[in-house]
Amino acid sequence: MPTVKLSTAKSATASADALVIGIRHDEDKGDLAPSLDLLGFTGEKSQMVVFPSNGLVKAKVIAAIGLPAEPSAEDLRRAAAQAVRSLKNVSSVTLDLHPASVDEVAAIAEGVHLGSYAFTAFKSAKDSSRKAGRKKAAEPAEITEVTILTAFARQTSAATAVDRAQTVAEAVNVARDWVNMPPGDLRPAAFAAAISDFAGEGGSTDVKIQVWDEKRLEKEDCGGILGVGRGSDSPPRLVRLSYSPAASASKDLPHLALVGKGITFDSGGLSIKPGASMQTMKLDMAGAAAVVAATVAIARLGLPIRITAFACLAENMPSGGATRPGDVLRMRGGATVEVHNTDAEGRLVLADGLTLAVEANPDHVVDVATLTGACVVALGNNTTGVLTNDEEFGEAVIDAAHSSGESMWPLPITEEMQDLVRSSSIADLRQHNPKPAGGALFAAAFLREFVGELSWAHLDIAGPSFNEGSAHGHTPVGGTGVGVRTLVQIASRLADTR
Ligand code: BES
Ligand code: ZN
Ligand code: ZN
Repeated sequence: MPTVKLSTAKSATASADALVIGIRHDEDKGDLAPSLDLLGFTGEKSQMVVFPSNGLVKAKVIAAIGLPAEPSAEDLRRAAAQAVRSLKNVSSVTLDLHPASVDEVAAIAEGVHLGSYAFTAFKSAKDSSRKAGRKKAAEPAEITEVTILTAFARQTSAATAVDRAQTVAEAVNVARDWVNMPPGDLRPAAFAAAISDFAGEGGSTDVKIQVWDEKRLEKEDCGGILGVGRGSDSPPRLVRLSYSPAASASKDLPHLALVGKGITFDSGGLSIKPGASMQTMKLDMAGAAAVVAATVAIARLGLPIRITAFACLAENMPSGGATRPGDVLRMRGGATVEVHNTDAEGRLVLADGLTLAVEANPDHVVDVATLTGACVVALGNNTTGVLTNDEEFGEAVIDAAHSSGESMWPLPITEEMQDLVRSSSIADLRQHNPKPAGGALFAAAFLREFVGELSWAHLDIAGPSFNEGSAHGHTPVGGTGVGVRTLVQIASRLADTR
């Protein structure tokens, strides 16, 4: 990640390789007008042109980027990300985007860190001499230093906000890495180990971690996680992270529980998916990635709150030992569930995770899951569905998302769906409704059975967890890390209420 600095300097004298200038719609283009007009720059939001400065400013290259007349923090976050992602062959960049507040400075810093993300772990060097075993050819320069021009540069609150942005963006980028890992390289035990490594990094001793293997899961009656993981030769895991700040008398702090769906690969199991739908199913652990990354970020920020997080990890595979449609699973807490479709596996692992969360006795619980294709049909690829048993908390979640720049929208849990969930003829609950209409609602109604009266919100991130198109704003191709920023924001607001 590049180093981010703040400066009150004038853009004309900034000494970076490239100067990025945000131009608000209908703003007077000044000295840049001839070049911008020549390049057909109209100032449309996110339009970007790059040209040699020819002595107009100290930087050798100018990048102009279009902004709305009154840009939001999210507009600035996206513009900063787009600029650092698209600029090639420069190592230092100055951003002149005119932030109007410390929050906007932080949004720009966050955009820089999110926009410089790339998943390169499996890329060989682009070097024709590689086969010959010769030395690697020079790679294009990476951006190592970014300076944000702002009148707030000397305020300590701005420096603090920029540090916070970096901590949060680091967590988002780790969640992206985990989602992007090939599924064969991140099976449940490997994912649990990666989580332990990340939680332990930087000596963050305020986070305690526990990993349950399949034997422990058996002892703890986690029939949902075991039932889903049974078809795989890489057995399931449950990872429990708990954070409470060392310095405070933890008893009075608000307590938030988080639960994440961590299906390291979703083949559908015996109700196997068609090949095309299976292609991206390494994404099916994005919920677990988000809750873990957010927990570590919250700990690194030292927020005055307690967090208990559960990552429910399993690989959903078909085999002679796999759970069959028609089987009945006994979940933690004793409820029995008739399985109708082994591809609706997320709700089964979450049921155990939610029961464990309830046992921890928090004030609220949030689960994050790539749960249903139906939610993608309803809300598209950029918006998370929010389903809840506590409208006030649901609104607080959506508000936190909005202020973090993540798009979330409420969906209802209807009585009709709650009745259907209770309509199994041989067990307490049925896992799946063969009629696909309202699939996201049915899934949430099923989860609701496991939270009782506890204030709960379910985030269905099936759409926004993975970008199959091209990069835009601060969204890269592949894993997006969606949910992390909102979860940190929810925690930070709950922490502020005490
Ligand atoms: N992991 C999928 C949901 C999904 C679909 C996530 C597309 C991301 C993109 C989930 O386990 C699943 O397979 N759901 C089924 C449920 C159905 C069998 C009731 C679905 O959505 O088709
Ligand atoms: Zn599935
Ligand atoms: Zn799934």
